[in-house]
Amino acid sequence: MNRLAPSILSADFSRLGEEVRTIEEAGAHVIHVDVMDGHFVPNISYGSTVMKSLLGKTRLPFDVHLMIEDPDRYIKDFVTDNTEIITVHQEACIHLNRTLQLIKSCGVKAGVSLNPSTPVSTLEYVFDDLDYVLVMSVNPGFGGQKFIPSALKKLQVLSEMKLQRNPNLIIAVDGGITLENVRQVVDAGANLVVAGSSVFGAPDVPGRVKEFLSLMSV
Ligand code: DX5
Ligand code: ZN
Repeated sequence: MNRLAPSILSADFSRLGEEVRTIEEAGAHVIHVDVMDGHFVPNISYGSTVMKSLLGKTRLPFDVHLMIEDPDRYIKDFVTDNTEIITVHQEACIHLNRTLQLIKSCGVKAGVSLNPSTPVSTLEYVFDDLDYVLVMSVNPGFGGQKFIPSALKKLQVLSEMKLQRNPNLIIAVDGGITLENVRQVVDAGANLVVAGSSVFGAPDVPGRVKEFLSLMSV
């Protein structure tokens, strides 16, 4: 099943609980949690406290996207009953294998994200043990940017490798996803689609979630 993960980065934080309820009732599958530190990316978003404020308010799993330097220091803070996946950036990890082991030892799925310029080949020696790869289709740091088309090629390469070596791998795409390109990314191999501004910026948020879901259904 292809899953939709709205990013709360584009939600109205003054009514975050309500925003999350709205997307859950409309059928979204996952909550994408964008954590930015102002170092790895040129923007600061929010930390684990904001994510934890949703505990007990939603049954949706959290997909935690850590856009931070030295993520090992903070991984445990993001492990909760709702946390399904914790993702670190390949570019931010000097000892990526160790970091992935740390995430797995916390009982959650381990993911790696690749910036637009980072090749899939950087994952060669961790690929077989990965639960999740997050292909950035914008340069991370901000919502509302334009989709970078070379992400499609990267999704195709990953989905070939998945067939050969890691059939349960979740392949996610993040950045600039709209009603216009969502089918393309699914066809290229994404089975988890992150969308921020195109969901929470829509005049009718539940209607927009449903439009995404119908375009993504196999
Ligand atoms: C970007 C974040 C994304 C962002 C996507 O750095 O990782 O998850 O929220 O937002 P849109 O869908 O607006 O590009
Ligand atoms: Zn993200």
